[in-house]
Amino acid sequence: MARITPVEIKQRKESGPKLTMLTAYDFSFASLIDESGIDLILVGDSLGMVVLGYDSTVPVTMEEMLHHCKAVSRAVKRAMVIGDMPFMSYQISQEDALKNASRFIKEAGCDAVKLEGGVNVARTVERLVTAGIPVMGHVGLTPQTASSLGGFKVQGKDLDDAKKIFHDAMAVAQAGAFAIVLECVPAELAGLITETLTIPTIGIGAGPRCDGQVLVTNDMLGLFDKFTPKFVKKYIDLSSEIKRAFLSYKREVEAGEFPSKKESFSGGEEAVLAIKSMKK
Ligand code: KIV
Repeated sequence: MARITPVEIKQRKESGPKLTMLTAYDFSFASLIDESGIDLILVGDSLGMVVLGYDSTVPVTMEEMLHHCKAVSRAVKRAMVIGDMPFMSYQISQEDALKNASRFIKEAGCDAVKLEGGVNVARTVERLVTAGIPVMGHVGLTPQTASSLGGFKVQGKDLDDAKKIFHDAMAVAQAGAFAIVLECVPAELAGLITETLTIPTIGIGAGPRCDGQVLVTNDMLGLFDKFTPKFVKKYIDLSSEIKRAFLSYKREVEAGEFPSKKESFSGGEEAVLAIKSMKK
């Protein structure tokens, strides 16, 4: 089975149904997400917070991203796999951006890369696209530079901010991105951007009018409970389920109930008898 291509993703803006995207960081979850028919799997640099325990996405390195992208790529048959370019892997120079982006494709089996920014990264997006690397944009709240945006909060509420986000989205689309993430922007602004652009918008905290939606998998499964943004819907409370399983295991081992006969291997009695007699 071939993976979904950027051309098919773009066509979905007109044809529907809406695009679905989730993050994955390892083989098991990537398999489950792919088998569920989700269209795009993002190996997000949210990896830094939900898997590696950093306070932000800023410290995430290329090597960390590639390691997890490889695991995800090994699992995925149908979805498009997108590698998130970490902070400072595309800002220093276009050559650097090209070199790093190509590693996601050549070494890690990704189909595309995502990078954050608007007008400021448009030339870089153009360079990658010209070289044959499909690029997904990301505007609005850009977590890698959240501190200069005043923290993790909704963006584009006043006219100047809204105009900036609108122009950023236009610039990334004109530079050749095949889709764009809109993070934490008011639903009306996201609606306007969606109807203006010819490429699909994928919202996270950007309301229902985007062409698709993305969530961090660990958030929507209730696996990451350090903080929960307003836009997250928890489809299951896996933290509680998992803790319950761990407690049952501990209780059963301590009580000598696990492993039972069912989980044990039989046979070898004669060998044991022989060893016992040798010991005499
Ligand atoms: O890193 C990530 O998971 C992301 C999504 C929030 C879009 O960029």
